[in-house]
This record gives sequence, C-alpha cells and structure tokens, in this order.
Amino acid sequence: MAITIKTPEEIEKMRVAGRLAADVLDMIGPYVCDGVTTEELNRICHDYMVDVQGVIPAPLNYHGFPKSICTSINYVVCHGIPGPKKLKKGDVLNIDITVIKDGFHGDTSRMFQVGTPPIVAQRVCQVSYECMCIGIRMVRPGIRLGDIGHAIQQYAEAQHCSVVREYCGHGIGRKFHEEPQVLHYGEVGTGVELTPGMTFTIEPMINAGKRHIKLLPDGWTVVTKDHSISAQWEHTVLVTDTGYEILTLHPGETL
Ligand code: MF3
Ligand code: CO
Ligand code: CO
Repeated sequence: MAITIKTPEEIEKMRVAGRLAADVLDMIGPYVCDGVTTEELNRICHDYMVDVQGVIPAPLNYHGFPKSICTSINYVVCHGIPGPKKLKKGDVLNIDITVIKDGFHGDTSRMFQVGTPPIVAQRVCQVSYECMCIGIRMVRPGIRLGDIGHAIQQYAEAQHCSVVREYCGHGIGRKFHEEPQVLHYGEVGTGVELTPGMTFTIEPMINAGKRHIKLLPDGWTVVTKDHSISAQWEHTVLVTDTGYEILTLHPGETL
C-alpha cells in the first residue's frame, strides 16, 4: 500500500479522532498514582472510550493484543500489557492511547511520573519529549523523513541517550499502521519527501542506556536489554501546505 494523502473530509475525521485520543490521556492523568494497577488504568480508559466517547480502542485484539491501552513502566520500552502490577513511587509510565472514530485512527502517548522518579528517569522523559518536539517542528512539505530521524538521533545521542531502532512512527488513517515508516534515526537527504495531506506519528523511544531491546515471552512487552529506563511520547501530525498540524494536541499544550 502506498502512502495515503488525506482529503479535507478525511482530515476533519482525523482531527476528531486525534482530539478524542488526547482527551483520554487528559482523563486518565489524575488516576496515575502510587498503588494503582495498570489493569485498573486500562479498565477506566476502556470504559471512557467505549461508554463516554463512543470510540473503538484500537489496541484491543489488534494482532491479538489483549487490552485496550499500552502501559509501559520504567525499563519497558513499549507495548506493555496492563496487568495486576501496582505502580509505586518513583516509577515512570508511558500510556499509549489509540482510538478509532468514524473509521479513522488517533494515536498518542505521554509519560507520567509517580511521585518523584530518580533524576535519570526524569531526564530520559524530558529528552524523549524534546526528541518528539524536534521532529514535529521540522515537518513541512519538501523535507525528508531521514532529515527528521537524523535530527532526533543527533539530539538524543548528544544527551547521552540512545534511540530504539526496531520500532518507529508510522503513517496512520483508516489503518492503525500505514506507510511510511517514520524512523527516529537516519541520514539527512534520505527517505520519503513529505507532501501536504500526509498523516503520521512521531513517537521516539529513547533509552537512558544502550539502544538494544528484548521481547518478553508474552510476545508483546518490549524491554531494554540492559534494563535502563526508556521513555516515549507520541503525537499524530498532519503535513499542511506550510508546515504541520498536531492532531493529538491537548488543550493548553504548546510545543
Ligand atoms: N500505539 C502503538 C503505536 O504507537 C501501537 C500499539 S499496538 C498494540 O504504534 F497492539 F500493542 F496495541
Ligand atoms: Co503509533
Ligand atoms: Co501509540
């Protein structure tokens, strides 16, 4: 499948889906605290999505994923499965929300902190946020995805962090994961050239230690091989005629 260019009508639906995904993260924030289980966070998000928003939680049954959200704690890089584990003071947690509304997907994630995490954990949260922002701010027609990946990698490595290679951002629309792949590392002047109407995610996974990862036997949970802290933020963005529009921005967020 080639890269899909969204029509104005489709873009409007992507805006709605994006805003709803961001709303779930705003809603769940106050529930993230010492002692809560990720299963509980999953249940609250699921019920909100289905009963209040009238959306479909995209992860549920996606290639067999068993839950409605992804919860990735500390050295979990991504695709953590909500379960009976309780959050504790000092944890950092990524919550990744993807909704389907009117046939279109909105995909966004943020880091949450429980109490005051160790400096290194706070730091990797900040660096991954800045990596995402650096990438988003570069989006405009004519730029290449390799330019964006390169800038993200440069910043992360200058901060003595590493970029996970095995997972990347992605085109998004009627499908959860579409072309193109949006790598968070790369070479200037390479890769797909952006044109207006493309929609994709930028979602750098940044490790405090080495970049290498391991897949746990559950087939989903991705962890750092060295068990160093990993952090990730994600937005869904649209390429406009002059730059970008963030479809999953939440009220009051400025990059
Ligand atoms: N939301 C993730 C992403 O950003 C994908 C999760 S797939 C799942 O692409 F099956 F684990 F939910
Ligand atoms: Co995504
Ligand atoms: Co996501």
